[in-house]
Amino acid sequence: MLDIKFKYNDLLKKLESEAPFQPETALILGSGLGEFANSVETVKSIPTDTLKGYPQSTVQGHKGYIHFSEYKGKKLLIFQGRIHFYEGYKMYECLLPVLISNKFGCRYLILTNAAGGINSGFVPSDLMLINSFNAISVKKELTQFKGIANRREKDLLLNYPSKKITDAVIRAAVMDKLDLKEGVYYFTKGPSYETPSEIQMMAKTGNDAVGMSTAHEALYAITLGLEVAAISCITNMAAGISKIKLDHQEVMDTAEIVKDKFERLIKNTIKLL
Ligand code: HPA
Repeated sequence: MLDIKFKYNDLLKKLESEAPFQPETALILGSGLGEFANSVETVKSIPTDTLKGYPQSTVQGHKGYIHFSEYKGKKLLIFQGRIHFYEGYKMYECLLPVLISNKFGCRYLILTNAAGGINSGFVPSDLMLINSFNAISVKKELTQFKGIANRREKDLLLNYPSKKITDAVIRAAVMDKLDLKEGVYYFTKGPSYETPSEIQMMAKTGNDAVGMSTAHEALYAITLGLEVAAISCITNMAAGISKIKLDHQEVMDTAEIVKDKFERLIKNTIKLL
């Protein structure tokens, strides 16, 4: 049985000694959405490559920093650079940012990602509040973890979405007259994009977007007692839904277009918490 807290004890202690304050809200920034970190006041930045044992992101658009930041008096912990399963990391390594957020006593966690749109009512550049996950493959992985294994009695994601933070996201969208979509996120381990038949299967079983992150982070955070909201930026239509050939550059280009809308949504949410 794997005890993640024990495994990262030294790293957590080092971070604690460097922290300038205790943050209340943590944010993990998805592909191409890392710029958000530069739009709020940074109090202290820690490059993750200075932290022994911290997995380094190898994906374009993912810088490796942990920022202690402030926005309108709210104290933030921002992870600029996500650790993905498809990069070859172990599931517990991908969960380190969530563990750190918990260690610092964060009450709220906002997860963001780039995702492929399955719902034919979506267009690239839409933002979607994730109202449920399809995360069966993740649940199996997490059975090796101390504190999660044997929790057969209840659905680990029962407390997702968390009411207060989700309400804040919806109110933030209304404030900005933003057409926020809502839907189900299908988690795939990757590393490749899907085939059109896989997307057809996901579409027929009620999924609205697909991506390679977030579900395990939400699941673990919920078990640790954090309030979680997750937002997808629809960067492309999933394979076969549109004729355009999928690549990471399209994901990055759309994320760039969405930047301002995304920033406003997150900032207004933080203000409302
Ligand atoms: N599929 C999986 N992950 C993704 C996609 C996609 O189409 N777009 C961005 N992340």
